Order: sequence, then C-alpha cells, then structure tokens
Amino acid sequence: MIRTLLQTALSGALLTWACIPAHAQPNDAAAQDYIKTLTDMGFPAPKENQLVHIPPTMEDLEDADIHPELKRVIRRGYDLFTNTQQLRGENVFNNMNCSSCHLGEGRMPFSAPIWPAAVTLPDYRGKNGHVNSLEERIAGCFAYSMNGKPPAYGSDNMIALSAYHSWLATGVEMYPKQAIYGRGFPAPERPEELSYSRGKELYAENCAVCHQEDGSGMRVDDQTAYPALWGDGSNNWGAGMVRIFTAAGFIKNNMPLGQPRSLSDQEAWDIAYFMVSQERPQDPRYTGDVKATAEKHSNFHKHSMYGKVRDSDGRLLGDHDNTGSKPFLKPDNIQPRSFK
Ligand code: HEC
Ligand code: HEC
Repeated sequence: MIRTLLQTALSGALLTWACIPAHAQPNDAAAQDYIKTLTDMGFPAPKENQLVHIPPTMEDLEDADIHPELKRVIRRGYDLFTNTQQLRGENVFNNMNCSSCHLGEGRMPFSAPIWPAAVTLPDYRGKNGHVNSLEERIAGCFAYSMNGKPPAYGSDNMIALSAYHSWLATGVEMYPKQAIYGRGFPAPERPEELSYSRGKELYAENCAVCHQEDGSGMRVDDQTAYPALWGDGSNNWGAGMVRIFTAAGFIKNNMPLGQPRSLSDQEAWDIAYFMVSQERPQDPRYTGDVKATAEKHSNFHKHSMYGKVRDSDGRLLGDHDNTGSKPFLKPDNIQPRSFK
C-alpha cells in the first residue's frame, strides 16, 4: 500500500536521526546533520538563538541508564500515544491516534512535537484561563482533538503518557528562555484572498486519495489507516486544528503525507479553508446556542468557521447537537480551577 511506502520513507529519515545523541546544541556536528536533514526536506533552518533539541527515540530508551520500571512505563506511554484507539469507547470517541496529528511519534519538528509541553508547563493557558500542568495539557487534546474524555489525572495511563512526553524532553532545561525551533504548526503567511472552491479542487487532487472525498478517511481492521478530516470520526469544534491558521500550518508542513512543504502557501491556506468549513462534532463548551458559544470563546473561535455562515451553501456551521459517537457533550473531569 502507498501508505506503507511513504511511512517507510519517513521513518527512514527518523532512523537517521536516531543515531544522533540526544540534547545536541546547534553547534554540534550531530545537530548540524539533523538540521541538514530537515532543510533538505524543505523546512526552514533555525533562527539565531533558537533552541534545537533532538528528542531521543525508543531505541535510545533501551540503552538509557534509568530504572527498568520507568522504561516500562515510558513504553506504555509511547504505545498509548501511537495507538490511542486502544482507549476507544472510554477516552477516545473518534478515529484519531495522538500520532495522527503529532507526526514522527510526537518528535517531528513543525508537527507540534510534544516535548516542549514537558519543559514549559506548569504555565498560564489562555484557552482555559488558568495555570495548567502537563497532565491538563494532555487532557485538553483528549477532550477536543480526540472528541473524548481524558484518563483521570494521576491514573496509570495519564502518568504513562506524561512520562513519554518528559522522556522526549530529556536534557532540555526547564522553562527555557530561547524560542523552540519547530514548535507547534507554524503557519505560512496568510495570502490576501482565500478560495473555498479552489480549496475543494486541490483537496480532490492532493488529499482525497487517502482521506476520501467525504473527508472520513479509512479504517482497516479497527485501526485507522487514514484519519478523518471532518465528520463524526474527526476532532470536534473545540480542537486547535479547527483554527484556519493551525490547519494551514499543519498542511503546509506535513501533507500530503511524505511530501512536506510541497504545496504553495496559497494552496495550503485554500485547502485549510475548505477543510475547516466542514461539519464535525459539537464543541464540548457548547451552551445550546452556537453564536453565543462562539462569542463566549471568541479569542479561539475568531480563527474558526464555527458559528459562521458557509458562503457556498448558506449553512450555519456548528448549529447542531451532534456529539459524534461520544454519548455526552462535555467530559465531567475537565473542571475550572481557581487556586482558592
Ligand atoms: C486533531 C489533531 C490532534 C490530535 C489527534 C492530538 N493533538 Fe495534541 N495538539 C494539536 C494542536 C493543534 C496543538 C497545538 C499546537 C500549537 O500550539 O499550535 C496540540 C498541542 C499538543 C501539546 C502541546 C505541545 C507544545 O508545544 O506545548 C501536547 C503535549 C499534545 N498536543 C499532546 C497530545 C496528546 C497526548 C494527544 C492524544 C491524546 C494529542 N495531542 C492528540 C492537535 C492534535
Ligand atoms: C498518502 C496518504 C495521504 C495523503 C495523500 C494525505 N494525507 Fe493527510 N494524513 C495521512 C495519514 C496517514 C495521517 C496520519 C498520520 C499518521 O498516522 O502517521 C494524516 C493526517 C492528516 C491530518 C491530521 C489528522 C486529521 O485527521 O485531522 C490532516 C489535517 C491531514 N492529514 C490533511 C491532509 C490534507 C489536507 C491532504 C492534502 C493536501 C492530505 N492530508 C494528504 C495520509 C495522507
């Protein structure tokens, strides 16, 4: 299958990096090789003073001088991150794995590598207006990106996932002052005009072969071969990926799979505009009124199409009670916090 080929190509690149020792500094020969691999793939070189970190791999874990029990728990975190479908029906109610969006097992730069969260939290987070821990950041991706319910704080699965994040950050100082190279899904410059119809055409040409014309992706033997971009099997309206700049940044740097940065900025934005203008499960913060919910979370939803009218057919997006295959709207273990 085409996917296997592309994945082999991608993991080939990752394997080369695996030989490189972790926590290299930008002037190390190893870091130079790492950066060359990325720039050869079309990614920008680090800016002056950016923190470059080469996360260790699971092979490095086997050689690491840490307690065998910790290794066992990190392996479990890795397994949950790359096969999150094993928590389907309990914590996950769509077709995603964590690694569906965080490519390269959460290590890939420009694909929101996950280790920065382990060295920058606890910190204040505007999305929920309070100081968040690493566990709470992970919980956020469960509630929105996985359209689910996070494992309980302090549970075995939550600690295993946290341990995997922290392991990938091995050697990085806490609260680094430098900006982190390749963090998040950096968006290319927004072009003056976006076109839904052009986005639709480009989607059919470049994406539908894997993600299908209707965006539902493909499942084979209860495993996700191609994740859903919209519809019931995808992330809900509260997930970061519904923001058009995040979607454009993801697409430009990661898709089509195996051909990062092959689309022009205009193409990436047009496809993103088309993709984020499709229906998906309700935002767990829904008040019963889409316009009121969008207004209440306007810092977030000013970047999404939620509560807006789609020009192509006049549909008010997000105006429904559909929570996908999740039998509830809001997980009962995501609570506001006041430290009072
Ligand atoms: C639908 C895509 C998607 C899925 C699936 C997903 N995430 Fe994310 N994740 C995002 C986006 C978008 C961001 C925000 C990136 C940014 O800051 O631009 C993010 C950010 C993060 C961060 C913070 C990274 C940083 O730089 O601080 C962590 C940690 C994280 N996700 C963990 C997870 C875990 C664990 C799972 C599985 C339970 C998961 N994610 C599933 C899209 C996703
Ligand atoms: C060769 C198959 C293939 C092609 C072509 C492809 N993708 Fe993907 N895409 C994948 C796979 C596989 C993943 C999940 C990554 C993983 O599991 O390793 C993914 C993940 C994604 C995700 C994050 C997860 C989600 O479901 O939201 C988005 C968004 C996405 N692709 C958009 C696109 C867009 C837009 C295009 C066209 C420009 C495209 N893809 C082309 C295979 C493909």
